[in-house]
Amino acid sequence: MKYAKEGKDFPYNGMIARWWFERTCDRVHERAYRKIAEFIRDSYTQDPKVIVDYACGAGNLLSLLSRRFPNAKLVGLDGSEFLLRMARQHLKALPLACSWRINFIETPLPNMDIVRGQADLAIFCFPNMVAASAAEQHLSRNDRNIARCLSLAEGEDDDAPAIKSGLEQGRAISLNLRRTLKRGGICVRVEYATVQRHELSPPELTLVSFEEGSLDARVEGITPRLWFRVLASAYFRSRVLEDVYEQTADERDKSGGYLITVLKAV
Ligand SMILES: C[S@@+](CC[C@H](N)C(=O)[O-])C[C@H]1O[C@@H](n2cnc3c(N)ncnc32)[C@H](O)[C@@H]1O
Repeated sequence: MKYAKEGKDFPYNGMIARWWFERTCDRVHERAYRKIAEFIRDSYTQDPKVIVDYACGAGNLLSLLSRRFPNAKLVGLDGSEFLLRMARQHLKALPLACSWRINFIETPLPNMDIVRGQADLAIFCFPNMVAASAAEQHLSRNDRNIARCLSLAEGEDDDAPAIKSGLEQGRAISLNLRRTLKRGGICVRVEYATVQRHELSPPELTLVSFEEGSLDARVEGITPRLWFRVLASAYFRSRVLEDVYEQTADERDKSGGYLITVLKAV
């Protein structure tokens, strides 16, 4: 689904937003957010000064992180007016010492002009991004050629355009995440998963790494730009995967969990 305008046309302002908001309030999601916040907290010895939650939704993770990083400024970016309104409501339950350090910005993503080079930590959690029109315009010709080669290798001819477009969207978002970060900053991605990272097949790993900006190998003689290096990954079993099952009705999306990948901006 592509959208060009902000406002009421954006799916996360309608039924999908209400569906998502209700899900984030259940025990399964609360437990997952707590675990993710603890994982991030435990990964740091020197605290991040600026934290960006990219597509932050109702701000569940930012609220938890504000307590765990008492000196950080926290910024939540999202395109949903409804979910950001819920996020601001969440702030009321926090001590003032936490809530005053959190800011929410309503914006379509990717947005290459926002928080440029300021973040020490960028988080991208449970993404289910609505494709932005012309996201691929942010990519180099090399990136678009690699996306084409990978899509042709991956699918039948009929599927290739959709795979290419998905790869370009994902890569444009990773570029945006990289641009929000300082060099050496950390990006934490939390993605629905049915297997651990090391269980991905080589072609799957190539697709994932290209999209996240960590692919350090040539594709058909073209070298992609390296934006991130993978530092660690951890897999947690969780019923959050049912978020995916509710949308796909695919039995394979019933059992699994989420994968946390920690990347360093190079
Ligand atoms: C599945 S929710 C995840 C929210 C949050 N990261 C969390 O873990 O609770 C996906 C979020 O991405 C936002 N989003 C999706 N596509 C977007 C886009 N193109 N621009 C801005 N926000 C977008 C939605 O509004 C929604 O808040």
